[in-house]
Amino acid sequence: MSTDDPTAVRCTGIRKHFGEDDARVEVLRGVDYLVRRGELSFLVGPSGCGKTTLISVIAGLLGTSAGEVSLFGRNLATMPADERVLFRRSHLGFVFQQYNLLQALTAAENAAVPLLAAGMRRREAVDRARALLDRLGLGARTGAYPRQLSGGQQQRVALARALVHEPRLVICDEPTAALDHATGEAVMELLASSAVHPERAVIVVTHDNRVFHFADVIAHMDDGRIVRSEAGPKGSTPPPPTPCVPSCISASSA
Ligand SMILES: Nc1ncnc2c1ncn2[C@@H]1O[C@H](COP(=O)(O)OP(=O)(O)OP(=O)(O)O)[C@@H](O)[C@H]1O
Ligand SMILES: [Mg+2]
Repeated sequence: MSTDDPTAVRCTGIRKHFGEDDARVEVLRGVDYLVRRGELSFLVGPSGCGKTTLISVIAGLLGTSAGEVSLFGRNLATMPADERVLFRRSHLGFVFQQYNLLQALTAAENAAVPLLAAGMRRREAVDRARALLDRLGLGARTGAYPRQLSGGQQQRVALARALVHEPRLVICDEPTAALDHATGEAVMELLASSAVHPERAVIVVTHDNRVFHFADVIAHMDDGRIVRSEAGPKGSTPPPPTPCVPSCISASSA
């Protein structure tokens, strides 16, 4: 993995559409987005502007129509498929907007999935997952199945699953949406502490302005583009330059 590139995520000219002909929707219209190592980057913008689509592209869950994504200096699109699977498994943690927990597994088993996938023995993996769930205030519910948990509890199980293998990049889609203020703060504390590491980064999609004070950088998205980046209240480094590169200009003048 490249160590001389200080970026965690670099998106250049990302375009993505769904459907064809009359049904074609241009969702990403030339996104340029930079997240540095050690940074907690918030991605904000109106509903439907393309946030979930963008982070799905960054995580390699969706392909692009054009543009490039590199993670820690590596371009996933040019990696051999088996290497890409291993890279994503060990270096990425993703919290889905709809949680996506496995209904047949308990909270602890769900949170342990990345460790089990990496080959860790079951007992050790589940113990580690339990310890993390405990830190997230779910110590008493580790044996419960997702259907027995509230939305906020499921959200925290999904977060534990994203953090348990200590990935270098954690991407969260609305991680505090179903949480009360105090629990939301605790969740963000945990996320922030995992991003403080100089070799890691966190991207948080959110509408929740109660947690904005955790941001190093706030990137504003609108109509399929990053239109502005600014230092967040916690940001000690200047924000990435506001993207205004040829792909963005040509997209806006198209
Ligand atoms: N699979 C799909 N097929 C067709 N259109 C899609 C698909 N996925 C997303 N879209 C469209 O892309 C646009 C952006 O969706 P996306 O989910 O990325 O928005 P968002 O910014 O995450 O919104 P929200 O804040 O409501 O979660 C929307 O207009 C949506 O309808
Ligand atoms: Mg979304």
